[in-house]
Amino acid sequence: MRLFHNAKASASGLALVALVSVSAGFLEATPAYAKPPAKAQPAVLTASAIAVADKYSADAAEQILKEGGNAVDAAVAIAFTLAVTYPEAGNIGGGGFMTLYVDGKPYFLDYRERAPLAATKNMYLDDKGEVIKGMSLFGYRAVGVPGTVDGMWQAQRRFGKLKWKQVLAPAIHYARDGFEVSQQLQDRRDEAAKDFAGKTNFDTYFGNLKQGVNFKQADLAAVLTRISDQGAKDFYRGKTADLIAASMRGHGLMTKADLQQYKAVWRQPIQADWNGYRVYTAPPPSSGGIGLVQLLKMKADIAPDFKDVTLNSPQYVHLIAEIEKRVFADRAQYLGDPDFYKVPIAQLTDDAYIAKRAGEVNPNAPSDTKSIQAGLGTSMPEKAETTHFSVIDKWGNAVSNTYTINGYFGSGVVADRTGIVLNDEMDDFSAKPGVANMFGVVGSDANSIEPKKRPLSSMSPTILTKDGKVSLVIGTPGGSRIFTSIFQVINNIYDFNMPLQEAVGAMRFHHQLLPPNTIFWEPYKPIEGELAKQIEAKGYMLKGQDFSGDIQAIKVNGDTPEAAADPRGRGVTRVIQ
Ligand code: DON
Repeated sequence: MRLFHNAKASASGLALVALVSVSAGFLEATPAYAKPPAKAQPAVLTASAIAVADKYSADAAEQILKEGGNAVDAAVAIAFTLAVTYPEAGNIGGGGFMTLYVDGKPYFLDYRERAPLAATKNMYLDDKGEVIKGMSLFGYRAVGVPGTVDGMWQAQRRFGKLKWKQVLAPAIHYARDGFEVSQQLQDRRDEAAKDFAGKTNFDTYFGNLKQGVNFKQADLAAVLTRISDQGAKDFYRGKTADLIAASMRGHGLMTKADLQQYKAVWRQPIQADWNGYRVYTAPPPSSGGIGLVQLLKMKADIAPDFKDVTLNSPQYVHLIAEIEKRVFADRAQYLGDPDFYKVPIAQLTDDAYIAKRAGEVNPNAPSDTKSIQAGLGTSMPEKAETTHFSVIDKWGNAVSNTYTINGYFGSGVVADRTGIVLNDEMDDFSAKPGVANMFGVVGSDANSIEPKKRPLSSMSPTILTKDGKVSLVIGTPGGSRIFTSIFQVINNIYDFNMPLQEAVGAMRFHHQLLPPNTIFWEPYKPIEGELAKQIEAKGYMLKGQDFSGDIQAIKVNGDTPEAAADPRGRGVTRVIQ
């Protein structure tokens, strides 16, 4: 199965932030084994809280917080645990983004995969220049250079309180001693296995994964133990690097040089003032943060059009689709890796620009798709499965983390003798301008393939603060549905005053400019009956998709956190005293 085959507006001042990249190589890193004892800090919240994708990672986080760890320690423990117990999306063979709020300051860590050195712009095209179906999705050539281990190493080394070995311990336990497989995991395995059959070694590692049975991963336990002993350098230059490179030889592009040169990057998060809150979210190479800010602000700009419009009514769906049309037109044109392409972040998030776009929304009927162009004018040069978790600790530090191997079980390739599932993130590049990827989104040269470049993402780990204190920690998987889903849940919470769990569980829908005037609905709460008829009568086509997102959110009420896991997934929340 691929995930998406068919199946008040306050006057808001936006803080424009120059994109500053700071390389943070693990090679210079002092091992994080010996941290100076942290100064005792007073707690500012009544408890810590987590919203995570499964119960094993919840147990891991609870253990780490009870051992005195902070939100970053817990996040790193969750990430490694999910690589074991949520292998369809949790990973060390992929990459992601972490938005942090630590000691009252925002940070953003980009540990997205990069294209291998041997990658070329037309690597997925045939002699006639057509995209070769499936090549960027399944098998060895779909794999980007993984960033998760360096990302976790950088985050824990910079902000963690506990020893590195301590945060790795739960993951090693689950890999060595096993965990009980859920029905959802088995179903996802069975679906993915159909795509990989005959193309990869997926079944060698995951053929025995069955609901109710204890699943052990000895090779992965050995890898995690080496990473625990040696830090990230085992993965990028040590025995694990050798094993990954050996697996790829003769099949894929990634080499040991790719691993050696990989670096996670600290960047400035996108920051915006909205509705009395400050929004911190993902900058490029994600499109999601810019998309989310545009959505929130455009909706605020046309608040009068939303007056008396009820949540998820046909008119609500129409107005949101109108806004989304414009956001996705910009996404396709201007977004890519900022280290390779000058993304016009300031212009795209400028209040006057967004207000102009909002002014073009037609409240009565769908705007003609062809008339919706990227909004900055033609002067811009053309060249130039996932899981989320949210954590807050009692000291008020928060981590919002989304990471991915793209489709469930990534490329289906498991690096031999490691148990590491390798990603298919190369599909997030634009293989050919105008040709859609797995999520149906198109791109331009801004997102063309180049060695060491990061493919454009939609992942949007987000934190909202008020008066310098964390108010909301939120994110989800879902490819191009990620930031439209987060947007809807934020509307539910702040515009419709819904309780958190209800806001997360409410119906969601999606529109992304292409296919024209198409509203995607989700299996969890389908659009059907009278509602469907009325939306169609407005000029839209309805289309089912087979995935609904998996929001993990924490909201702070006064000094007390509450957490909500999406009822669509197998997520778990805990509030930990
Ligand atoms: O980076 C991205 O936007 C995608 N690779 C995320 C994939 C995803 O969310 C799959 N989950 N359902």
